[in-house]
Amino acid sequence: MNISKTMQDAFNKQIIAELWSANIYLSMAFWFRKEGWKGFAGWMFKQAEEEREHAIDMANYVFSRGGEVKIAAIEAVDTEWESPKAAFEATLKHEMDVTEMINKLADVADEEKDRASQNFIAKYIDEQVEEEKSVNDILVLFNQQSTHAMHADSHIDRKLAAMQG
Ligand code: FEO
Repeated sequence: MNISKTMQDAFNKQIIAELWSANIYLSMAFWFRKEGWKGFAGWMFKQAEEEREHAIDMANYVFSRGGEVKIAAIEAVDTEWESPKAAFEATLKHEMDVTEMINKLADVADEEKDRASQNFIAKYIDEQVEEEKSVNDILVLFNQQSTHAMHADSHIDRKLAAMQG
């Protein structure tokens, strides 16, 4: 059975959101590169590529159900962040927003009683759990680092106190 217009439009909206995500991560990759952070830049380039793959995968699904895909305007993205940690915090927030969008897409599939789309969307529900976790793991590293920095500060503080007798 062909995809309904409502379901098709909901996928089109999500495809644009995936391309917007790709642009966000590409913009972060360029910023990291400019700032000299090769590892972070590489991570963001890979992330951007994955988002583009999500968009194409969703488009292929819509085509396979006899639907159409049209790319509308894509929202502008930020071009700089306060720090590497701030960029990853923005990434986590963005992924949480995307999770909400995917949940809404799943709601449409439920309302449309579209079992094929429900099945297709299920892997993106799992994917969002993975994406949020991988960004969160990186944020844990940043937070550990700042704890160490605080330890370093208090170590120096104790040393100076000891020197003063
Ligand atoms: Fe395709 Fe990171 O959401």
